[in-house]
Amino acid sequence: MFDKLRAQIQSITAKETLSTEARLQEICELLRDAVPYYDWVGFYFRNGEKEELKLGPYSGEPTDHTIIPFGKGICGQVAVSNQNFVVPDVSAQDNYIACSITVKSEIVVPLFVNGENIGQIDIDSNTPDPFSEADERFLEFVNQEVAKIL
Ligand code: SME
Repeated sequence: MFDKLRAQIQSITAKETLSTEARLQEICELLRDAVPYYDWVGFYFRNGEKEELKLGPYSGEPTDHTIIPFGKGICGQVAVSNQNFVVPDVSAQDNYIACSITVKSEIVVPLFVNGENIGQIDIDSNTPDPFSEADERFLEFVNQEVAKIL
């Protein structure tokens, strides 16, 4: 599944007639449609010089959490740790921001441009413990491809 998706991601990022935002939107929709346990897919980016993340393109239910301060929730922790964060069971996390009661698990992978952590891809799942290293490697690839068009 991920090999085919890698090729599809590259065809989306190559669509130079589309805005970056439109290409990111397509990526979110592709991932949510194609991976059965990806129920919400979105990008957060650093909000200018502020120590906070701002929601970018996403696919899934609208969320109230359009701004997340650095350090808060899974996303805010990744903004400062620069590390992937895989959460098999969100109910076991103290520093977690719930977006929907149906969410059971989450993965957040930072997005680097020239070595700087400038945002992240965030995936919520309604399935408990669905993420493996294959998801991490795949989402790192997605972010590397996206970094080229930012
Ligand atoms: N659960 C995230 C907040 C973002 S929503 O999942 C869209 C967190 O704890 O940072």
